[in-house]
Amino acid sequence: MATGELMVLGGSGFLGAQVLCAASQRVPAVCASRKRPPAGAAHCERLAWSASQTRGLEEFLERPGLQAVILCAGLTRGADCEARPAEARALNQDLPERVAAGCARRGLRFVHISSDLVFGNAVAPPGGFRPQDPPQPRGVYGETKRAGELAVLGAHPRAVVARLPLLFGDSLGRGLGASDSLLASLERGESPGLFQDEFRTPLDVVEAAAALVELALGEARGLWHIAGPVRLSRFALGELALEAAGWDPASGWPKSTSRAQHASSSPRPADACLDASRARAELVSPLSSPRQALRARPPGTAKPPRA
Ligand SMILES: NC(=O)c1ccc[n+]([C@@H]2O[C@H](COP(=O)([O-])OP(=O)(O)OC[C@H]3O[C@@H](n4cnc5c(N)ncnc54)[C@H](OP(=O)(O)O)[C@@H]3O)[C@@H](O)[C@H]2O)c1
Repeated sequence: MATGELMVLGGSGFLGAQVLCAASQRVPAVCASRKRPPAGAAHCERLAWSASQTRGLEEFLERPGLQAVILCAGLTRGADCEARPAEARALNQDLPERVAAGCARRGLRFVHISSDLVFGNAVAPPGGFRPQDPPQPRGVYGETKRAGELAVLGAHPRAVVARLPLLFGDSLGRGLGASDSLLASLERGESPGLFQDEFRTPLDVVEAAAALVELALGEARGLWHIAGPVRLSRFALGELALEAAGWDPASGWPKSTSRAQHASSSPRPADACLDASRARAELVSPLSSPRQALRARPPGTAKPPRA
């Protein structure tokens, strides 16, 4: 049974905060982050950390009792990566390589988080992209995430690289992720349009976090796809989220839109669905459909905005 510490680098983010919560149910969890993690994950020990400080990281990896590291920090918005490609390379490629090399030197388990958006330039096969399918990213985010994967697997032969899909679910009151951001946007009186022609295999962030902790505390290595079992458009996911939050289906929300109607500042793959059948077969952690997960953990109940 695992008893050593698990450190989350970037524990203040949408995913990182839930990874801290999941980790702390199994082992002592430590958060290294620029900002404080939100309430809900704040009970964990916190180390102030910025990715630009190499020394801090090396010191953290020397902690006695440290067993595993999960890297959740990164430059995660496509538009930010297009606008600041050097920062995207530093955070999505160079940082993972540094952490992987540091963990390999010390014999620490390491899980790095990658993305379904390493795919997107080729048509998705039925059942979604498998780990062995050749990545073809579109845009700086996907390119730097793919470069990060290769750098990690080169620096730490026993590392896990976990590709995640679009995440939804509980952002601990911060309006982050695919479902909470939709509700927050509607609460602000905005009229967000959701693509009916952009497809993903969305996963609840709570379930993603549990699967990542299971990988970190186990013996797995290499590339894993951790994703939901259902191919859904962003619009369909939005409908499920609002239904689970108690919205009247007749409210007219969410609004449907199409890729052709919406100019984006970053390239957006039409279909980046992942085949996560290996994870479903081998991991104990559930990877449920969005309908099941949203029923189990309904999002906050925002009121429909006035027309
Ligand atoms: N969310 C999704 O749908 C999704 C899907 C697929 C893959 N992923 C991957 O999952 C991981 C986490 O994503 P997320 O959605 O949780 O992103 P997020 O909410 O944007 O969190 C990013 C984290 O990175 C930290 N960070 C950014 N720049 C930093 C720096 N210079 N030094 C230290 N920390 C820094 C942030 O710290 P601050 O809080 O201090 O800014 C935050 O903790 C990323 O690798 C992302 O590519 C996410």
